[in-house]
Amino acid sequence: MLKGEFGWVYAKALEIIVKVGEALGSDRLVEITHAHVSGVSYSNIGEPGLEFLRDFYRERPRFRVYTTINPGCVDYGMLSQVIDNKYFSKQALIDESLVGMGGKPVFTCIPYYHRPPMPGEHLAWGESSAVIFANSYFGARTNREGGPLALASALTGFTYLHGLHSLENRVARVLVELSPLIDNKPLSLAGLWIGENIRDIPVVKIREKPLHEIKALLAAMAASGSHALAVLDGITPRETYKTEIEETITLEPSDVEKYVGELPGLGGTVLGYIGCPHTHPEELVALKRLLEKYREPRRGKLLVTMPPELASTYSPLMKFLLSRKVDIALGTCPVVSVLKKKYDYMLTNSGKAYFYMRKIHGLKAGIAGLKEIVESIYA
Ligand code: F3S
Repeated sequence: MLKGEFGWVYAKALEIIVKVGEALGSDRLVEITHAHVSGVSYSNIGEPGLEFLRDFYRERPRFRVYTTINPGCVDYGMLSQVIDNKYFSKQALIDESLVGMGGKPVFTCIPYYHRPPMPGEHLAWGESSAVIFANSYFGARTNREGGPLALASALTGFTYLHGLHSLENRVARVLVELSPLIDNKPLSLAGLWIGENIRDIPVVKIREKPLHEIKALLAAMAASGSHALAVLDGITPRETYKTEIEETITLEPSDVEKYVGELPGLGGTVLGYIGCPHTHPEELVALKRLLEKYREPRRGKLLVTMPPELASTYSPLMKFLLSRKVDIALGTCPVVSVLKKKYDYMLTNSGKAYFYMRKIHGLKAGIAGLKEIVESIYA
């Protein structure tokens, strides 16, 4: 493959993997079963990224392993009043290239909704929130790959053996306990703090929590830090990590206060946002329960982002959300897209959205639980 016997595209792809692997001190490749390609939004990668993909696609190569695709910059449902679809034709060219090579058009950052990995399975996933979830929740093995590397792995079926692919590098050294007061707050808050303040792989002790809270905790950690694995006590499969605890930290409410912003005065426009990482059915059901007693928003909008397939599978749920004037965007999110208008403030349950939206869209933001978000917009 490296010598070009399968064509220049595969040679180039394998060369990328070998070069990165050698630079990191790896001496072997490892076969993967699932690649997840990120860095596919036109508003992020622009013309150079589009051209890179089109160059590959012109040779009509095929992915050698099951491959899923991260969100693009357009709402595939075409209903959102928040997401601007101005790059629709450009995004369509990116999607055509990836789907043409064999990628599954899931357009989501929760690829595990479509194919949950097994403990110990080797993957090459881009998208930091998906990577940390795969390692921590499922006990799978993937490093945080950039878009081009995940694409190269999709084409070749290999990645370099390094980092979290080996058990000896999956060693947790810090134990993080959440004080009872923190445990009652959105786990995103703890995630942002851990990401910012802890360098080693942590063991995090949490009480039983819904899946969307765990997803938000891990995504926040990966956004404010460079984490790709956190051992979740009682959840992470035991055989997929080791512990050598050197330090124990207890997180108190005062540690995370800075992430809780204050709503603007009555004149300010508020964007409530749920769905970073994309919503899972269980989170939508919780949202439905909270919205039942309201008819429509009283201030601002409530945006929910999710995988396109989830919307078609749960169409009665979608109908209900639309009846409550929820703004639904499919296969995208406000971090990787363009907004139609500017909001004064974003209130979200996502530490990752909080982290990036302030930087990318210059928004003020705060973190709250689902109930508080719904009440802020509808009550
Ligand atoms: Fe997903 Fe967008 Fe958040 S891609 S993890 S919803 S930033």
